[in-house]
Amino acid sequence: MATERTLSIIKPDAVSKNVIGEIYTRFEKAGLKIVAAKMIHLSQEKAEGFYAEHKERPFFGALTGFMTSGPVMVQVLEGENAIAVNRDLMGATNPKEAEAGTIRADFAESIDANAAHGSDSAESAEREVAYFFGADEICPRG
Ligand code: TYD
Ligand code: MG
Repeated sequence: MATERTLSIIKPDAVSKNVIGEIYTRFEKAGLKIVAAKMIHLSQEKAEGFYAEHKERPFFGALTGFMTSGPVMVQVLEGENAIAVNRDLMGATNPKEAEAGTIRADFAESIDANAAHGSDSAESAEREVAYFFGADEICPRG
């Protein structure tokens, strides 16, 4: 197994519900370490760049509008198989299809306001971590 880093975002709906701590607890209980974190209110440009892979999708405008609707909590998680572990903790994209006990099942209302983002591959993780954090803002914790 490999130690990986992944980018996680607690989206505006979950920040507004005041469940950042509950979600952080799930990361920690699953063995993921927070090695960088910041709260930011995304600009439209920053949100569009982040989700550039979805630019042609019909939901792109709604997605970027939602992601800029309030502050988000962005963190880098580090641990064994961190990318897959975080995706498992989040559950399916559509909270109605997410397994009970997952972040999206417990905290999200709909596919367009679904509480959390997690990188979906090693390539995305590398791009997404660098999109938000410089190397000097990440603290390896061993
Ligand atoms: P996607 O990368 O497919 O999902 P995930 O976040 O699980 O990696 O889509 C990015 C976000 O776009 C998703 O979290 C919510 C939004 N979205 C919609 O609003 N409608 C949709 O039909 C899909 C597929 C995604
Ligand atoms: Mg995705």
